[in-house]
Amino acid sequence: MHIGIIGRGTLGGAIAHALDASAHAATVISTTRANARENRALAQASDVVLLCVKPHDVPSVLREIAPELRAEQVVISTAAGVRLDDLRAWSGERARMVRTMPNTPARVRRAMTVIASSSHCDPGALAVTRELFDTIGETAVLDERLMDAVTAVSGCGPAYAFTFIEAMIDASIALGIPYDQARLLVAQTLLGSAHLLLASDAHPGALRHEVATPGGRTIRGLLALEEHGVRGAIARAVIAASGA
Ligand SMILES: NC(=O)c1ccc[n+]([C@@H]2O[C@H](COP(=O)([O-])OP(=O)(O)OC[C@H]3O[C@@H](n4cnc5c(N)ncnc54)[C@H](OP(=O)(O)O)[C@@H]3O)[C@@H](O)[C@H]2O)c1
Repeated sequence: MHIGIIGRGTLGGAIAHALDASAHAATVISTTRANARENRALAQASDVVLLCVKPHDVPSVLREIAPELRAEQVVISTAAGVRLDDLRAWSGERARMVRTMPNTPARVRRAMTVIASSSHCDPGALAVTRELFDTIGETAVLDERLMDAVTAVSGCGPAYAFTFIEAMIDASIALGIPYDQARLLVAQTLLGSAHLLLASDAHPGALRHEVATPGGRTIRGLLALEEHGVRGAIARAVIAASGA
């Protein structure tokens, strides 16, 4: 399968890197602004075209490549906030259009990619998209009306996670743990916690309380978080990013 990535930047680069390292039998070609004149040739040579340009560049890029698109091709947009109806209109309805929201852990094949479904979606195109993104992480299919929320949760989520990680590392250093060890302790603790959550049916609140033994240190830490409104602040950040 020939995959053409238009916009090999942060996300496009992460996906290209992961596909190169994955078992997916794909030949990946890509463009950036520097060789944007090759966009039409890329579209012509690709079975799947991945659009990884900024949302405001999507209309012009789609109109530019539209003459090269064919009915059997799948064009996958990763652009935040860009609706399927608009994608179809800008492409002249020449190819099968899919809207997705991946995230940057794609680079290490741990992406969370949500694929938007709507009544107009071609099931074959959704299947091709799912197969592709399954090779670089987890996938889920959700109704298109939830995509702004999805963007705020899993698209933007790595930024919130790194903010939390950075704060934990800063505290570790303040308490005397050298940076390299602090980085490992914090990252492995978050990774392990995420694995524990996914492996159990328990609510995260129940798992949190398992750590907090009566009269222990954890509950003091949790109360300090509540005093500073951390849970509310995180929830407000996600809702703000959704545009709601
Ligand atoms: N970053 C994330 O975590 C993330 C997560 C989910 C979804 N997304 C979506 O992914 C898309 C890209 O975001 P990003 O953060 O990866 O942006 P980015 O790093 O700025 O990458 C955009 C890329 O598009 C290239 N480009 C611009 N105009 C072009 C054109 N006409 N032809 C070919 N390439 C062109 C740029 O080229 P130059 O390098 O030459 O400037 C750059 O490589 C956005 O729509 C965003 O909503 C991003």
